[in-house]
Amino acid sequence: ADHAGVSLKDALADDLREAGAQVIDLGTHGTESVDYPDYGAAMADAIADGRAPIGVIVCGTGIGISIAANRNPAVRAAHCAHTTDARLARQHNDANVLALGARLVGSEVARDCLAVFLETAFEGGRHERRVAKLG
Ligand code: RB5
Repeated sequence: ADHAGVSLKDALADDLREAGAQVIDLGTHGTESVDYPDYGAAMADAIADGRAPIGVIVCGTGIGISIAANRNPAVRAAHCAHTTDARLARQHNDANVLALGARLVGSEVARDCLAVFLETAFEGGRHERRVAKLG
C-alpha cells in the first residue's frame, strides 16, 4: 500500500494473521507520502519470485497501484469495488492480486472483497485459454 492505503492494508493484514495466514507486509508503514508504483512493483516481485501466491494492494483509488502491479506478467491484479468484482475476478480471470481503493470503498466492503477473493476458485474451462493469453 501507499500512504493512502496504509490504514486499510494494516487492517486487512491483521484480519489475515488472525485467520492464520502468513502475511508478507511490503509497506508502506506510515502516512508519509510515497509513490504507489514502488509498492505495486514490490508486491509484483513477490508474486513473480514465488514468495507469495496471492497479493493484496491498496492505494487511494486502487487504480494506480493495480496498473503498476500489472506491468509484471506474473500478476493478474483485479481492481475490485464490491464482492461481485472479487468473485468474477477469481472465477473468470484467475486473478492472483486484489487491488482496493481505500478512498473509495469502506473497510467492511474491502474485508468482504478479500474474503470472497480468497474463498473463490478459478472456474477453468473456457477461461483457461483466455487467461493463458494474458501471460
Ligand atoms: C495518492 O494521493 C493517490 O494518487 C494514490 O493513492 C492512488 O489513488 C493512485 O492511483
